[in-house]
Amino acid sequence: MTRTGAIPESGVPSAEPYAVPQSADGEKPFATRAGVRRLVGAAVAAPSVHNSQPWRFRRVDDATMELYADLDRLLAVTDPLGRGLGISCGAALFNLRLAIRMTGYDSQVLPLPDPGERPDLLATVRAIAGGPPDQDERLLHDMIPHRRTNRFPFDGRPLPRKVFLDLVSAAHAEGATLVLVKGRTARRVLDMVAVAEGTLAAEDAYRAELARWTGSDARSDGVPEHAFGPRPRHGELPLRDFASGGAQVVRDRRPEQADFEPDPQLAALFTTGDGPRDWLRAGQALQRVLLTATAHGVAASMFSQPLDLRPPQHRGDHAGPLGHVQMLIRLGYGPPVPRVPRRPVFEALDLATREARRG
Ligand SMILES: Cc1cc2nc3c(=O)[nH]c(=O)nc-3n(C[C@H](O)[C@H](O)[C@H](O)COP(=O)(O)O)c2cc1C
Repeated sequence: MTRTGAIPESGVPSAEPYAVPQSADGEKPFATRAGVRRLVGAAVAAPSVHNSQPWRFRRVDDATMELYADLDRLLAVTDPLGRGLGISCGAALFNLRLAIRMTGYDSQVLPLPDPGERPDLLATVRAIAGGPPDQDERLLHDMIPHRRTNRFPFDGRPLPRKVFLDLVSAAHAEGATLVLVKGRTARRVLDMVAVAEGTLAAEDAYRAELARWTGSDARSDGVPEHAFGPRPRHGELPLRDFASGGAQVVRDRRPEQADFEPDPQLAALFTTGDGPRDWLRAGQALQRVLLTATAHGVAASMFSQPLDLRPPQHRGDHAGPLGHVQMLIRLGYGPPVPRVPRRPVFEALDLATREARRG
């Protein structure tokens, strides 16, 4: 993959700026505090549903990290099954793997190592001997701090075929399938998203939960007002209305309405199954797709409203030929957008048994 297009920059600092790890020096990845901080710092730059950052990391030893679901951060109304949580943690896991590669180690991931006793333990990640990272891995890694969810209008330019093929390959490399959704099918999908958005927004409990996770620029989690984006003038794009949960004051301060691209370019991400393991896989694939898009200067936003409404019985046999949709992604060329904050790394980290050497 070669990098194309400009990388959008942003002006808004995060609570804890994410620093790019240094290249390999032979030291095991989690041997020092600085190493742990860099690697987990990369992981937590991942996207998450409502920026809930529903993850915890536990350092086991110099070469082993555990990834846990932080169930206190589960969106009980929007995401009762933990699907969005699993995808978010999968995205963080992909960043962690990539950051480990930058140290010259490879990672061995054991998903859900103990589902009976510890269902919140989503993965054990072990650093094992590996070669130096290749150019593609470096490029994707360099994109971690530049990736954003962009809810602003895109300019309508079509994605070149080569770019789209790179995105398809990115999903495939993580065991998922990405398909372009075009024309009338795209319109039908957007209609479905609009119905889901309307259904959710009519629920008091949904709005109350949304209100708890939106609007404050002072917090290090949740979706701040500056990231809401403008309202589509003609209602043409059913972006999640983050203002629908909130106080009137947020609604009133929201940017003007804007014209969005008339023919949005959508992609759907599928996995063969629809359980916790698949959500983890979907998250890793999603993040690989998003970082690949960023490397091409392509902006993205997501629609997950129809998936929030998916009944539990959807699991199992009801999949279509490509499996289960795990995310709808809108792609295109958009303006630079500010970064959304993250909690400080050490809030999501247990240094565990043997304290990492100070470094
Ligand atoms: C599982 C999942 C579901 C998401 N659903 C939506 C959505 O429906 N609408 C939306 O605008 N953004 C959605 N997002 C994007 C998050 O809101 C975003 O990642 C978060 O606010 C952090 O911002 P960032 O991606 O710019 O770092 C979703 C992200 C994930 C991982």
